[in-house]
Amino acid sequence: MNRSLLRAVGFLSVFVFGQYGYASVDWSEGAFVPPGGRTNIYNLNEDDLAESTRKGRLHALHYPVEVSGILLPFHTVEGFFDSNGGAPFKRFLKAVFKSWQGYESFDEVQEWMGLNSYPEVETGDVPFLNGHRPQYRMGLTKLQTHHGPALTVSCAQCHSANLFGKRVIGLTNRFTRANEFFIKGKRAMALGDPDRFAWITGASEDDLALYKHSYHSMKFVGLKKPIARGLDTSLAQVSLSLARRTKDAYASRDLYWAENPRHERLATEPADSKPATWWTLKYKNRWLSDGSLVSGNPIFTNFLWNEIGRGTDLETLEDWLEVNMDVVEELTGAVFATKAPSYFEFFSVEDFDLDAAKRGEAHFNKTCSRCHGKYVKAWSQTGAEDLIKQDLMKTVLVIPASQTRVYNVGTDPKRHEGMSSLIQLNDLEISKKYGIKIKQQVGYVAPPLNGIWARWPYFHNNSAPTLCDVLLPSNLRAKRYYLRASVDKNSDFDSTCNGYPSVSRRNWRRLPHENKVYLGGLGLSNTGHDEGIFVKDGQNLLNDQTRYELIRYLQTL
Ligand code: HEC
Ligand code: HEC
Repeated sequence: MNRSLLRAVGFLSVFVFGQYGYASVDWSEGAFVPPGGRTNIYNLNEDDLAESTRKGRLHALHYPVEVSGILLPFHTVEGFFDSNGGAPFKRFLKAVFKSWQGYESFDEVQEWMGLNSYPEVETGDVPFLNGHRPQYRMGLTKLQTHHGPALTVSCAQCHSANLFGKRVIGLTNRFTRANEFFIKGKRAMALGDPDRFAWITGASEDDLALYKHSYHSMKFVGLKKPIARGLDTSLAQVSLSLARRTKDAYASRDLYWAENPRHERLATEPADSKPATWWTLKYKNRWLSDGSLVSGNPIFTNFLWNEIGRGTDLETLEDWLEVNMDVVEELTGAVFATKAPSYFEFFSVEDFDLDAAKRGEAHFNKTCSRCHGKYVKAWSQTGAEDLIKQDLMKTVLVIPASQTRVYNVGTDPKRHEGMSSLIQLNDLEISKKYGIKIKQQVGYVAPPLNGIWARWPYFHNNSAPTLCDVLLPSNLRAKRYYLRASVDKNSDFDSTCNGYPSVSRRNWRRLPHENKVYLGGLGLSNTGHDEGIFVKDGQNLLNDQTRYELIRYLQTL
């Protein structure tokens, strides 16, 4: 079949038949968001939804795009780390690599990348491919290609976390070094063209083919280090990578541009943000922290952007997407169906101050819900007196704005300004064909607040380490904080302020530098979200008591 015929067939079969008889979804600008959100976006019956969601989660964990630009030769990478012998030059390289990074094993590399281990046994949230616990951490993928197994990274490297022992897909990975991993990878590749690679590693024909493929793609990848740990530079990676391609409908890969990249403002200006949580998508109709992605399936769009950041040929990608639309839809359905973890899975419901939460609800409805939506609690329903405390805490209905809105509340502007570098994506053929449209915004979406307790640190740029900080005038907020892994819910989490525990000046000096975040610089300002919200003409309308009550309420969402 020729390419256009193949595309036509792929296109039709998906839209007419769909794998589960998927209902078509309104991805257009201004699509209606109903009360309760779009939890079951394809209107599947219960069994199909469960099966499709499971598959979708597997795609989130195991990157499915076998035509991806970066596919590391599996056997060689594994052999590189796990063997002690090898050619003298290989030993030399390994020694150099070690002294740079201190990596002893492949697992240490993954730890450095910030990847979380899989749970010991399969859970509903984290399914195991073919029933076996993967050898690697969540986010790393061993993919079958026509040149044999390859290694690549998946959505889960940025969109999964370990929350006090529970693995959660769709929660931000607060520790990812995804961008830096690419930076190291690109540097390592610069040490070895394919000939040298073959000589050093003695790789098989297939592994050499994979290396050549990745080596070539890497020329079209532009990278940037995040301004702080926990933030991500995917936006910059997309625009810097586009600057290395021709400006045409398929952003064709031409070595001229790879060697003479166009000037790009995100090379020097930050537009970093944290990876988003997935369980808010069902309550929105526009995407990204600034709401600039106004139409098109956001998951489809993510594949496209991820692949631009991996230097992939876009015609090849378009063909892959067309015949794998079921993969895209399974992942889309799974992302929309993602549920937030409940506070009470981790903290005692008995000790929880329910009366304070109820008073917090009143403050919230007065001060916050006009932007963040309404959350109907079981405790306010008729018949509540018959419920046990655990059930009283539940949210029975979320009523989001039927149209997601963007507000300028004075938080750091760099991220929304940086979108000017990505408007060019509208010109790509794939964007046009699938209705993907970006419109520059001033401000950010007021995100739905379900599961907000688990989403610290707050704001698009992680500039408020706790909910206390969110609800304090910005001059009183923390100016620095220490990123802690969520291992122990008592020592790694401040349940009163809800977020990272503060650190005394004495202890601060002893902590490792790599997880310290200093606020205030370009892209890291911690201003905003105060005046016009809970500060009027410089006067703070919240006091310690009302702030305490609001936080109790937020913890139940
Ligand atoms: C390198 C890290 C990284 C990887 C890998 C990644 N994302 Fe993201 N993702 C982000 C960041 C950062 C944002 C937020 C960008 C912003 O500020 O708008 C985001 C935002 C999103 C959003 C928008 C959420 C919203 O509320 O509008 C979706 C959906 C999403 N990602 C899905 C995916 C999918 C699906 C994949 C895999 C195909 C993926 N991401 C891979 C970092 C990543
Ligand atoms: C005028 C609209 C508006 C009002 C009113 C408002 N917010 Fe917000 N809120 C926003 C916007 C916009 C953001 C995103 C800012 C950013 O990320 O830079 C935000 C972010 C937040 C966040 C952080 C979300 C995250 O995922 O990091 C929390 C928590 C929050 N608001 C709580 C509240 C509470 C509680 C109130 C009431 C006291 C309130 N907001 C009132 C617009 C509003």
